[in-house]
Amino acid sequence: MKHYSVLLKESIEALNLKENGIYVDATLGGGGHSEAILLALRGGHVYGFDQDQYALNTAKNRLKFFKNFTAIDSNFEFIVEKLSELGVDKIDGVVMDLGMSSFQIDDASRGFSYMRDAQLDMRMNQNQTKTAYDIVNHATYEELVYIFEVYGEEDFAKPIAKKIIELRPLKTTFDLVKITDMYKYMSKSHSAKQVFQALRIAVNDELGVLERTLPKLLTILKPEGVLSIITFHSLEDRIVKHFFKTYSEVHIPKGIPMINLPTPPLRLANRKPILPSEAELSENSRSNSAKLRVAIKNEVKR
Ligand SMILES: C[S@@+](CC[C@H](N)C(=O)[O-])C[C@H]1O[C@@H](n2cnc3c(N)ncnc32)[C@H](O)[C@@H]1O
Repeated sequence: MKHYSVLLKESIEALNLKENGIYVDATLGGGGHSEAILLALRGGHVYGFDQDQYALNTAKNRLKFFKNFTAIDSNFEFIVEKLSELGVDKIDGVVMDLGMSSFQIDDASRGFSYMRDAQLDMRMNQNQTKTAYDIVNHATYEELVYIFEVYGEEDFAKPIAKKIIELRPLKTTFDLVKITDMYKYMSKSHSAKQVFQALRIAVNDELGVLERTLPKLLTILKPEGVLSIITFHSLEDRIVKHFFKTYSEVHIPKGIPMINLPTPPLRLANRKPILPSEAELSENSRSNSAKLRVAIKNEVKR
């Protein structure tokens, strides 16, 4: 399947690119967002992070003619350390296009898709040891219910978890789909959609990584630097929205008179998230649930 870069124009325009700026693409994938930035730069540099070897190779190949591009094989959680190793301590902007690349979903062997039978894997980083197999076959009932309810917002979390425990070991994605089919045969979307999302989030600690990374980005962003973040489900979006809200407001305890209000670290570029256009939605169904939020770092006056 063709790989589209979601909200490409909007997320790159939001960066308000400086022609000699230093930018980070935290989720390199096929390299679409990095390429768009590189094409707009005259000098400067783009550092692209990914933890998936296939993504890194694809992007490196696509971007091999750009001398001002560096691919970094790492979880973006380590952005500060990895950039510091390269002598970079301040950047002009970050684009983050969370989630998975279509090639990860399409590669049956990765176990991300409920449409293909494969080992229960779901690791974005192929060097990680914990897989979906470990969670499905070794988590307690309570842990499974938590994962399905919290990360999948799955109404049938309890019966599905109970059945998994009864039938395990489960070996493949289709073993799991057989169970979700038992309870969700009336479901409008695929019976396993939420359970697979939940497991993927758990295997890769996606929400924890995002929560830990956002404050780190603030520390390396230059004043007027931009965070341009695309999310694909409400759990991720809630984390970004909450982070942006917290850091763009000034919290003063009641009763304390203030003449000059302090400047918050961030300001929002838009009050509401930016959504894909009708044209993009009709061309790429994956963009359906995408939301772009943008915030700009304020110069804090002393
Ligand atoms: C939606 S794709 C990015 C597509 C890319 N923007 C493009 O235009 O081709 C998301 C990519 O981010 C990577 N990724 C997700 N979470 C990551 C993390 N915590 N650290 C590093 N890479 C991550 C995935 O491996 C995947 O390749």
